[in-house]
Amino acid sequence: MALYGILGDIHGNREALVAALAAVESHRVDAVLCVGDIVGYNADPDACVEILRGRGTVCIAGNHDLIGTGRLGFERCSNKAMHSLKRTRRELRPATVEYLQSLPSHHLIEDRFVLTHGGVRDVQQYMTRPPHFLENVAYLREDFPGRRICFFGHTHEQRILEIDGAEVRERDAAGGSARLDPAREYFVNPGSVDASRKRAHKLAEYAIFDSSCLSLDFHRVAYDDAATESKASAGGYRIDRWRDRLYDVQRRILGPRQQTAL
Ligand SMILES: [Fe+2]
Ligand SMILES: [Fe+2]
Repeated sequence: MALYGILGDIHGNREALVAALAAVESHRVDAVLCVGDIVGYNADPDACVEILRGRGTVCIAGNHDLIGTGRLGFERCSNKAMHSLKRTRRELRPATVEYLQSLPSHHLIEDRFVLTHGGVRDVQQYMTRPPHFLENVAYLREDFPGRRICFFGHTHEQRILEIDGAEVRERDAAGGSARLDPAREYFVNPGSVDASRKRAHKLAEYAIFDSSCLSLDFHRVAYDDAATESKASAGGYRIDRWRDRLYDVQRRILGPRQQTAL
């Protein structure tokens, strides 16, 4: 039984990660867990990995970590993601690549709670709608029998989904607290540390989870978004209109597998 800080979808955003970790530490957590996507989109992938490793964070691999290190291709990426990941591939230090490639796809906490990035069996699946959660709760029961709480990332939204038979209930928890029922099954997303692509706010998100009483608290904290943006632009991580069109044309003519040429 322990108190956990849970975060993910950092996407190379050093400013947001430093702010989120400082806030997490203030809760006096026993451990920090990361649900993947440490790199991609922003200019500090090496620094983010270094910070997480220095803190002894338990991490799993997200799709951006796999694509950024060449273990997955660009087939299911948007142009924006592909562009920043090409830049990330050129930037990453060998030690960072080695670390990211060593990350597991899942992790079990206390042998009770599962960490996954996207879907339970598909790292690139976006679990957003009830059928996705019903499909994945079946995978959870098969692949991790007896585990009822699964933390996930990838969709970048703070959410708690409670599964009750064939019904998927959204628990109202964003910005607040919730107590999970030990008899039910849950998918929980702590939100995204990186808010560079969010329109509603530029706040780094994380969750605090107390495994002794199954209580969850969602938090958001301010960070220096202007600094992140200026580094990302200067570093070539932001796609311009012309490059975006060029990728579209290239996808049509050559197919997605040829995208590494640009
Ligand atoms: Fe992500
Ligand atoms: Fe992702």
